Amino acid sequence: MFPTERFRNKHILVGITGGIAAYKAAELVRYLIQQEAEVRVVMTSAAGKFISPLTMETLSQHAVATDLFPENAFSGTHHINLADWADAAIIAPASYDVIGKLYSGIADDLLTTIWAAIHCPTVIAPAMNVNMWNNPILQRNIDELSKLGYLFCPPEEGFLAEGYSGKGRLAPLEHLIQYLYRAVHPAPSSLSIKKVLVTAGKTEEPIDPVRVISNRSSGKMGLAMAWEAFARGASVKLIHGPMVLPHPVDMEIVEIATAEEMYQVVKKLYPECDIFASSAAVADYTPAGPVSRKIKKKEADLTLELSPTVDILKDCGENRTSGQQLIGFAVETDSPEETGAQKLNEKNLDMIVVNNPREKGAGFDIDTNIVTLMHRNGAREKISVLPKLDVAFRIFDFLLKNQS
Ligand SMILES: Cc1cc2nc3c(=O)[nH]c(=O)nc-3n(C[C@H](O)[C@H](O)[C@H](O)COP(=O)(O)O)c2cc1C
Repeated sequence: MFPTERFRNKHILVGITGGIAAYKAAELVRYLIQQEAEVRVVMTSAAGKFISPLTMETLSQHAVATDLFPENAFSGTHHINLADWADAAIIAPASYDVIGKLYSGIADDLLTTIWAAIHCPTVIAPAMNVNMWNNPILQRNIDELSKLGYLFCPPEEGFLAEGYSGKGRLAPLEHLIQYLYRAVHPAPSSLSIKKVLVTAGKTEEPIDPVRVISNRSSGKMGLAMAWEAFARGASVKLIHGPMVLPHPVDMEIVEIATAEEMYQVVKKLYPECDIFASSAAVADYTPAGPVSRKIKKKEADLTLELSPTVDILKDCGENRTSGQQLIGFAVETDSPEETGAQKLNEKNLDMIVVNNPREKGAGFDIDTNIVTLMHRNGAREKISVLPKLDVAFRIFDFLLKNQS
């Protein structure tokens, strides 16, 4: 899961309604507390049938709000206080019922009364039976609420509690977080009319049917770039090589394996994009010989002949249209900044992100990075160790700040 500084000290209100997925909200609260957010939980009385408020109190480290008119405590207008307190809010899971109430402007319990007064960005993550999900009344309610600015994190297809299979499962934790990250973003529409293309992860070049040449890239930095572009309101396309990380939500995703496949997909999608972030670690060489049969083990040495692959970024730099912006990434162990500056020029890029995987806190398959940002106009910024998502935030800020 992506760690980030973005939630630190942020006031996040988590609403839980009466659905079988209510227990999954516990993981969300746990994640937010780990990121040092201030969390308050409000539950409907139906939610309390599915998960105990004590669980949420223990995880959020605060009393859970459940009653509009609590019997033994003075709470005054705590619905207004909580609405005013929140920097961002999420209802997960959101029942058919509560979505209908939000659409209709009904405020007949604590949760709906808070949401009547709330004025921060709100994520709604519906979860319900597939037939409830397909009900045109619900779909109308979602469409109308979306037009009012509510951020709907869509449910997934899969096995549902009643034994059905279909759409209606609560979105996985990482999708809820991707949406909440957008809700707390300080520049939520800085790329709102932009199309951003991102490549992520490694490529695999087959030696024979069972062996490949590859590298250690996990795809975390590229995925962070895709999340960040999404959080800034861009329409995002992501091309990635083999990786184990979960797919982001609400972006077009193309999976590839080899450098040549990556090149073919980039060639197709690149002309339509405004910003291309080439974060993937693409193989520079691929086996030159035939690969149809498994190479047998012998006593003698084995020499593999390798041919260079297409330099995708260079090709994009040579074929850019006016207004297109190119972000390159360079992993260099020797004189990273000199080599970065050279690549920035040679490949006709707007900016390059250089890192040295030998530094502690930088490199492959970890959650943090240490980078230097270099712009074609000469601007430079060194970023010391930060979570990759926060590095991605700085990269887009740097690009936007330096664009002519
Ligand atoms: C066992 C059980 C499971 C339910 N699961 C869901 C569900 O996943 N999603 C949903 O929208 N409603 C579900 N319901 C119905 C809601 O609990 C019901 O509509 C309730 O009034 C919702 O109240 P609330 O919106 O105030 O939380 C379920 C009901 C029962 C009895």
